[in-house]
Amino acid sequence: MKILFVASECAPFVKTGGLADVIGAVPKALAALDVTARVLLPVYPALKDLASKGETVWQSETLQGGAARVVACQSDGIELLLLDAPHLFDRPGNIYIGPDGEDWSDNAQRFSALSFVAAEIAVQGVQGWRPDVVHAHDWQAGLVPVYLRQRGERTPPSVLTIHNIAFQGLFDPTLMTELGLSSESYTPEGMEFFGQIGFLKAGIAFCDKITTVSPTYARELMLPEFGMGLEGLLQARSSDLCGILNGIDLDVWSPEEDDLLVAPYSARRLKQKAQNRAEVLRRFGLENDTDGPVFCIISRLTTQKGLDLVLEALPVMAARGAKLAVLGNGDKALENGFVAAAQAHPGSVGVIIGYDEPLSHLMQGGCDAILIPSRFEPCGLTQLYGLRYGTLPVVARTGGLADTVIDANEAALMTKCATGVQFAPVTIDALEQAILRTCDLYEQPSVWAGMIRRAMRHPVGWDVSAQAYKDIYTSLTGTHSA
Ligand code: ADP
Ligand code: GLC
Repeated sequence: MKILFVASECAPFVKTGGLADVIGAVPKALAALDVTARVLLPVYPALKDLASKGETVWQSETLQGGAARVVACQSDGIELLLLDAPHLFDRPGNIYIGPDGEDWSDNAQRFSALSFVAAEIAVQGVQGWRPDVVHAHDWQAGLVPVYLRQRGERTPPSVLTIHNIAFQGLFDPTLMTELGLSSESYTPEGMEFFGQIGFLKAGIAFCDKITTVSPTYARELMLPEFGMGLEGLLQARSSDLCGILNGIDLDVWSPEEDDLLVAPYSARRLKQKAQNRAEVLRRFGLENDTDGPVFCIISRLTTQKGLDLVLEALPVMAARGAKLAVLGNGDKALENGFVAAAQAHPGSVGVIIGYDEPLSHLMQGGCDAILIPSRFEPCGLTQLYGLRYGTLPVVARTGGLADTVIDANEAALMTKCATGVQFAPVTIDALEQAILRTCDLYEQPSVWAGMIRRAMRHPVGWDVSAQAYKDIYTSLTGTHSA
């Protein structure tokens, strides 16, 4: 079976968050199930070298105002189709945001072009390869089902995965003609969203199947508190919606063979974890004593992640001798808040503002617990890395966090199945209680060590979920009539 993935990010080439990790991992997991997935991805500066070595398989003189081509190549075990359109994607800095801190003003043109080319490939094929299913991810690929529909010829079925409904790709409706969109789709049941074109809404309305990245988020999405205005449409399409839990790429994230650790370790050889801990403390300027657990945060600093509450909880943490190492960037107010917190609690709170992939591995290897107090979390990957590295997740009970961490309540402790701590609702009181509970568990070495070993054995790979994607593709290719 042949699948065309369409996405704006793919690890290890270009990454701003978990979407990239997923796009980089699923094709490899599908390959083991005899499914070939090729990833259509724009050529940002980081991909130029790779694109220069590939074979041109499609070209156009005029894609949103400039010349463009698609280059086929292979790297890091992933089959790539790279959309090389320098006027749209060859720019420095963040792939979505310009130097003024605002979204690139032509994001509608940039990502409609990506979706348009996906539909071209789906219909014409490249190198004699034509996908059986097109799998679009997030708003950046939301127009794929629309362009497929507009072709009016035999087109493959489409799947849309919602990684985060907070990002919807909303644009001015005067762009309809420029984007090559036919006005009949611009209805409240279609791509119109309160007077704007909704790229994600378009995808949800017109794809054949919708998935999201955890079963709990699939249910939450149909509620007004989480659906962000799309809950009605999702309820209407509920029979086509399902949650498939994200996994992690075990070739990249395994403490036994992670070159980015000071000392690799396993559930059987846990002692070496301490060497990574010492290195984390050194890197973050934290005191090297064993009073309390070392918590970490590795995150985009945004309202979604609930990290403003952690700032409020710092006195409770400090009183228990716990430490906190924070790696993240994003909202300036949160960045400044954490920098000020590090100054106010020297030796107890350490902060590095920025994006640092190698350091994130070291932190997963060296910390005792990872804090994820998200207000909503479609899946979340850092708690899965935490499980794999025995860095116990302390998480809000929402979305994929609820589906992956087993709370250390009395029953779970008694039956020896706890792997972390969950709390709800996302309030300062509940977070403080969770932190205190974690400190209590940490003070019971045999209980804590048992939880670490169990966490490290918890299945977090892609096997089960890759099969679930394959089942969806099979159901569509078996039944779809164009
Ligand atoms: P989201 O996609 O909402 O940001 P996820 O938990 O799904 O959340 O994925 C975040 C990914 O980005 C993880 O791989 C995490 O390790 C990584 N990450 C987030 N912030 C940073 C950072 N400042 N430095 C390095 N890696 C980061
Ligand atoms: C989004 C979500 C995150 C999820 C990731 C990958 O960025 O915020 O929860 O893990 O996509 O699916």
